[in-house]
Amino acid sequence: MRKPLISGNWKMNHNHFEAIQTVQKLAYLVGKDELEAADVSIHPPFTDIRSVQTVIDSDKLGYALGAQHCHYEEKGAFTGEVSPVFLQKLGVQYVICGHSERREIFGETDEIVNKKVAAIQAHGMTPIFCCGETLEEREAGDTETKVLGQIRAGLEGRTPEQVAALVIAYEPIWAIGTGRTATSDDAQQVCAAVRACVAEGWGNDAAQAVRIQYGGSVKGSNIAELIAMPDIDGALVGGASLDADEFARICKLGV
Ligand code: PGA
Repeated sequence: MRKPLISGNWKMNHNHFEAIQTVQKLAYLVGKDELEAADVSIHPPFTDIRSVQTVIDSDKLGYALGAQHCHYEEKGAFTGEVSPVFLQKLGVQYVICGHSERREIFGETDEIVNKKVAAIQAHGMTPIFCCGETLEEREAGDTETKVLGQIRAGLEGRTPEQVAALVIAYEPIWAIGTGRTATSDDAQQVCAAVRACVAEGWGNDAAQAVRIQYGGSVKGSNIAELIAMPDIDGALVGGASLDADEFARICKLGV
């Protein structure tokens, strides 16, 4: 049984004061016992991680700490980068990698993403591996070619056990931050193809265990329908995770 994972990707929003307030408000709205239906991870900017960790630890909140990105090397001359070792020391459990904004704006290639997945797992954390197609690719009928190609390249070299332990986030790029959500049937179709691709490459056990999130304009009003789909095991939430009330509804799976 795959427990759903709801992940709030704050992107470059909320300074550390706003981060503390948001997490405290969220904790008030969604108590620990209401977190039973789903695991929840929060991915603030790097400068907020320590503050959010302190709130989660001191109030014993049931949220997992997440990061949005990291470098694949442990240390060295990489100005501006953050090591997976540092994130692990802070108690980070989930690290997003291969987000379409990192791929498109910062030029992250499949090779770089592949190294990051390995580094994140080598340091005992769980990668949230993102994949997704542009509108042009969808309209040209190339959705699966693009998405499954990213998965094969990004996860090449991983063992079945390693793939079983990670999270794959399917995020159609045209649905991110646009208010346009893939219909639950469309999202299910691609997520089923993702699972079939994992079965083909890493075996059926890995395919049954891997958690597949949908991302792209997820809200309190559409989470229930998405999560009801057999191959959708959670959501990667951007804009709607910034607001504690809206994110609380999503954490409660729209109930
Ligand atoms: P969105 O972002 O929910 O604002 O569409 C999702 C994401 O980019 O992870």
